[in-house]
Amino acid sequence: MAAINSSATVPNSPEISRLSVQCEAIATDTCTIRSLDWDRSRFDIEFGLRNGTTYNSFLIQGAKKALIDTSHIKFQKSWFDVLKHQINPTKIDYLIVSHTEPDHSGLISDLLNLNPKIKIIASKVAIQFLANQVHRPFESIAIKTGDKLDLGTNPLSGVQHHLEFISAPNLHWPDTIFSYDHGTETLYTCDAFGLHYCSNDVFDNNHNAIAPDFRFYYECLMGPNARSVLQALKRIDKLPPIKTIAVGHGPLLRYHLDLWINDYRKWSNDRSKGERYAAVCYLSQYGFCDRLSQAIAHGIGKANAQVQLIDLRATDAQELSSLINEAQAVVVPTWPSKSNSELQNSIGILLAALNQKQLIAVYDAFGGNDEPIDALANQLRSLGQKEAFSPLRVKQTPDSNTFQEFEEAGTDLGQLLNKKESIATMKSMDNELDKALGRITGGLYVVTASQKKEHSKRSSAMIASWVSQASFNPPGLTVAVAKDRAIEALMQVGDQFVINVLNENNYQPLLRHFLKRFPPGADRFSGINILENVAKGGPVLADALAFLDCRVEKRLEGPDHWIIYAIVEQGNVANAEANTAVHFRKVGNHY
Ligand SMILES: Cc1cc2nc3c(=O)[nH]c(=O)nc-3n(C[C@H](O)[C@H](O)[C@H](O)COP(=O)(O)O)c2cc1C
Repeated sequence: MAAINSSATVPNSPEISRLSVQCEAIATDTCTIRSLDWDRSRFDIEFGLRNGTTYNSFLIQGAKKALIDTSHIKFQKSWFDVLKHQINPTKIDYLIVSHTEPDHSGLISDLLNLNPKIKIIASKVAIQFLANQVHRPFESIAIKTGDKLDLGTNPLSGVQHHLEFISAPNLHWPDTIFSYDHGTETLYTCDAFGLHYCSNDVFDNNHNAIAPDFRFYYECLMGPNARSVLQALKRIDKLPPIKTIAVGHGPLLRYHLDLWINDYRKWSNDRSKGERYAAVCYLSQYGFCDRLSQAIAHGIGKANAQVQLIDLRATDAQELSSLINEAQAVVVPTWPSKSNSELQNSIGILLAALNQKQLIAVYDAFGGNDEPIDALANQLRSLGQKEAFSPLRVKQTPDSNTFQEFEEAGTDLGQLLNKKESIATMKSMDNELDKALGRITGGLYVVTASQKKEHSKRSSAMIASWVSQASFNPPGLTVAVAKDRAIEALMQVGDQFVINVLNENNYQPLLRHFLKRFPPGADRFSGINILENVAKGGPVLADALAFLDCRVEKRLEGPDHWIIYAIVEQGNVANAEANTAVHFRKVGNHY
């Protein structure tokens, strides 16, 4: 089958972080060059990263040679070493740019230096973005859905590599395209269907190992564009059979394709029900705007509210106007004080399309030259808009705390949007069933979690009563955590947390404290007596009667809660005489 079958691992600055490059044949005349970034942590590039990541590029050798995407700049030397092992870069005819985010396009300038004649195939928007990125002339062909490129037949394999393109705007940048090779039935999707998961496995052999990361990645990057996902799926459905989805991050999808595609379909359908949505505006390629907007959008999605991310640079005037006008809430970033005329035009359209019934909120894009956030907030307030949350300010380079604050603000907004529905759902339960369910009783606990990442630390806490022992060996328990809880972000598979068991004689003050409505990003432990460094997962409350140090093993998705199964790694009882506080309820539609 494959004409290329070499594999190389090039270590790169191991003292800083583990980086390596892997090259494997994936189909006839086709290889992947995968840049493995083992230690890239979730707060480095976007909040959805836990197990490192990979940046995958692909080389297809028909009669003509095409490269799909490059890599992150930090792989500059090692990626080119491996590429040159496969092909002389001057012999590459086309570079297909799936989208222009720097982790895939970071080496385009270097490639153009080596091969100035290479033709860049990309969407029209991507070619515009690229012109700003590489600052040099290049040959390009702008393509859209249905356009084709014939790479001809490889004389050795006899396989013709006929590429067909699909526009997939907003997955996850506005400039995204997919490429389908009819010769190998491979669909190249870059960010879509990807996951941040670094391992030597080129393919998705182990479904269970990667499924949580696949889900998390969808939630963070694709969920806010669920409508665009559905549009892209419609286009994919029209393609001939697909053997492999060659993604830009993580293992390529081959062995469980139907499951992965059905997941995307189901999740996106679930997230596109109803007409009400929040529009979260951002500016691609501007400061931290992209990642900050994603954090807000992710928070909104956690509260089961719909969200639409809108790139103010790349959305056409008519679409922008209707998306803003029909939204129930609009979230706006600060924009550059010296905007070009196109951006000024978009901002004008945005402001004109707002209506007074909408909720509104602003956030700092941290772009360096932004208009002051207060001026923007005042301008919007003067239009009579109600604020969904206080302006989100960013005073220093965004870190994990910033992303947490933005996510929590998004959740507050999502809850506001869904308030009426949530109350109606609670009231809709059959009366007798409601009372019977209310006889289910639990203890009272405070779940705490904290995670340190270089200079920043995220922490959170919540009162819980839906806690139950779930295994003897190893000792394990479950906690049901509502999908819109702040602490949910710190309870992914592999994360640690602490269950603080409350004492029936002194639980009231702790209950009152932790049930307060905390503003986004607030320190929930302020004024509370805590013991640090006793448990690995988070703070131990000095007034708790016992604690259990837990590690998340599995997450089962329920309709409104995640059932989190955790292994208890250690525990301690501070007061052997006291009893656990018990929570008796009258009805089952409240905790
Ligand atoms: C008695 C009681 C028990 C609760 N048990 C749970 C629980 O088991 N799971 C859960 O997700 N929320 C539970 N809650 C709700 C949260 O503790 C609380 O609303 C939450 O801290 C606020 O949401 P936030 O942390 O996302 O801001 C309970 C609330 C009360 C009053």
